[in-house]
Amino acid sequence: MPFQTDLDFARSLDQQDALKGFRDQFIIPEKDGKQLVYFLGNSLGLQPKAAKEYMQKVLDDWASLGVESFFHAEEPWMDYHDKLTGTLSKVVGAKPSEVVVMNQLTVNLHLMLVSFYRPTQKRFRIICEAKAFPSDQYAFETHVKHHGFDAQDAVVEVAPREGEFTLRTEDIIATIEKYADETALVLFGGINYYTGQVFDMKAIAAAAKKAGAKVGFDLAHAAGNIELQLHDWNVDFACWCCYKYLNGGPGAIGGVFIHEKNFAEELPRFAGWWGYDKATRFKMEKGFVPMSGAEGWQLSTPPFLMYATLRSSLDLIEAAGWEKIQAKRKQLNNYLWFMLNRINNAVEPAVIQFITPEAEREHGCQVSMLMKTRGREIYDQLIKQGFMVDWREPDVIRLAPVALYNTFEEVWRFADALDRAISFDGRIA
Ligand SMILES: Cc1ncc(COP(=O)(O)O)c(C=O)c1O
Repeated sequence: MPFQTDLDFARSLDQQDALKGFRDQFIIPEKDGKQLVYFLGNSLGLQPKAAKEYMQKVLDDWASLGVESFFHAEEPWMDYHDKLTGTLSKVVGAKPSEVVVMNQLTVNLHLMLVSFYRPTQKRFRIICEAKAFPSDQYAFETHVKHHGFDAQDAVVEVAPREGEFTLRTEDIIATIEKYADETALVLFGGINYYTGQVFDMKAIAAAAKKAGAKVGFDLAHAAGNIELQLHDWNVDFACWCCYKYLNGGPGAIGGVFIHEKNFAEELPRFAGWWGYDKATRFKMEKGFVPMSGAEGWQLSTPPFLMYATLRSSLDLIEAAGWEKIQAKRKQLNNYLWFMLNRINNAVEPAVIQFITPEAEREHGCQVSMLMKTRGREIYDQLIKQGFMVDWREPDVIRLAPVALYNTFEEVWRFADALDRAISFDGRIA
């Protein structure tokens, strides 16, 4: 359907929205009794109204049954994990046995590097994106050093070409081919946190496999945002946080995918008792016997209260339907691009340089706008008017409307406010 620029059109899209009831399942932040426009799903997803109730259930079990809750609560804590992996595996395109919810993203990244970065004198390089999120950079650096290699030499970063902001798939593939015999691991973000660029994970995984290397992805900005097919893409492993597009709450417990083809191999791993075979765990015996599947990588007794907040969101995703969420995500985002382009095209010279690629398959919810003039001032104006977007130094505004709780009217209002903030420059006022 061709988009139109007026507010009534945005409202009509909201009327037709198959997910319109879901916004009301979230707590929308307010100021002076007025709802703010929250476009920060890329940073911290909003709180499901049911999160408190789900947490309260765990607190009540604890109060009434104490430690007996592990086995005798109405929903025994021992099996709580199983209530998370069904939906999560759909979201990342995996089998439930390939997904585990544990720890947090950076910890999981380290655990996966223990299993999947096994360098030899000949094959020791890690190929990654330049300007990966700092945690990833530090993880690569410290693992490479831990194995006695020089990080400057062993970590190969693929950077955008001169004058460009995003990576070309052909350059990523060419780098993997160049170092084919020397690469132990290829590890990229699914979506770069700064530019919002979606990497071609299928092509990267295929190139890594062809080179004989392991391949993993940091899906912090991809899980719960875009369609993923980790199993079919033949990815070895992936890690993500659940506090962004998965609305699991601040510091939410993280998610990990391990391809089932890796279960048979005796991969090195750091073990803890919660990864021990569930049937015999409480015999407390010597000699680590892992649970089958990804759950065998668990270390510690899980934080059940954080399981509960995540579950409150996953249950909403399940009820909404992942396919419907994807359909709305695309429509909402296409509408955002339509409105932003309209504003930017009306100003000469353009005020915004979009560093997120516009092609639908190359972005998710996020749009990163490099502001060529008065960026901070425009951002401050938007914040003052109740639009919650974020600022990344030196000059980028990031925003990410999401399907479950944002509306087309909010996008329209944001575009209108941005248009006016830009116009105050005096050029098109
Ligand atoms: C791409 C990426 N990787 C890693 C992290 C670090 O995650 P955590 O602090 O949950 O370990 C983040 C946090 O935002 C991120 O965006």
